[in-house]
Amino acid sequence: MKPQDIDWNNLSFGYTRTPVNVRCYWRDGQWGPIEEHTEETVTMHMAATAFHYGQTAFEGLKAFRCKDGKVRIFRMDENARRMQSSASYLQMAVPSVELFCEMVAKVVTDNKDYIPAYETGGSLYIRPVIVGSGPQLGVKPADETLLLMFVSPVGPYYSGGMKGISAIIDRTHDRAAPFGTGHTKAGGNYGASLTSALEGHEKGYDSVLYLDPAHHRYIDECGAANFFGIRVDGNGKAHYVTPDSHSILPSITNKSLKQIAADFGMEVEARHVELEELNTFSEAGCCGTAAVITPVSTIFDPADGKTYDFGQGVGPWTQKLYDELVGIQHGETEDRHGWNT
Ligand code: COI
Repeated sequence: MKPQDIDWNNLSFGYTRTPVNVRCYWRDGQWGPIEEHTEETVTMHMAATAFHYGQTAFEGLKAFRCKDGKVRIFRMDENARRMQSSASYLQMAVPSVELFCEMVAKVVTDNKDYIPAYETGGSLYIRPVIVGSGPQLGVKPADETLLLMFVSPVGPYYSGGMKGISAIIDRTHDRAAPFGTGHTKAGGNYGASLTSALEGHEKGYDSVLYLDPAHHRYIDECGAANFFGIRVDGNGKAHYVTPDSHSILPSITNKSLKQIAADFGMEVEARHVELEELNTFSEAGCCGTAAVITPVSTIFDPADGKTYDFGQGVGPWTQKLYDELVGIQHGETEDRHGWNT
């Protein structure tokens, strides 16, 4: 699509074709050159392990066009390291942080006319994908790996934005196994969440709250995003409480929020979070690259018919965290931790 044909003021979180994607193959034990492609399709062997055995993982990160005219990419080295962890767990070739970052910089530069203007509130979403592209019949790792990256200009993941979303607790499906792939960005985690998300939408909820797959006692994740709650204790101290376990994706947005919360003097608690603790939160939200920070207004528990209500709109601590995160991403607040490129 040509830049002039894009409805820049009404961007949603969807795929828009841009001119260039970049690819790099690992063959014969080494990574080849970075290739620039204009076609959207990939030709792959029909016995590629990506198709049969789920050797596939991805990343999501964003570039922002800022008021000062610069383009900033947020924490791409963290995405590189997380992709290394996913590739390693799924027995694919592991790209170096340098290769990953060089490809990100190239795909952003090559598509710079597709980075939304500051005023639109949009960003350029970068989607790195790594797959086992070599053929196997037995359940074995591929002898060839493809790392590819494409971009798309995007707006908010949830169309309601900061008004707050509704979620339903799902006890009939788990997103990931207790000692499985939940801590990686394996494609299979997301495939496994589709039925649950669809059923949640059919019941009228924006998202699904997953419980820990071993006990269904602790909170795991909220749809494709991490979850957090804010508790203000008897002394007026605010606590940023977020679930942590092997089946939860280590979100880079959440990692950043934990740091920002600590910078604000909040108590940061990353640990198992009992479902009943929802009663103690004055604010709740989900966070991720796509979701940024989205307030959670209500959580319905079908087991007892109870609705946890955190109020419509955005609470004061959630707003403060959001403003700081987005301020850093847009170069308006000091990048004191050196997160931007
Ligand atoms: C992201 O936040 O980047 C995600 O990966 C969530 C989703 C769009 C799959």
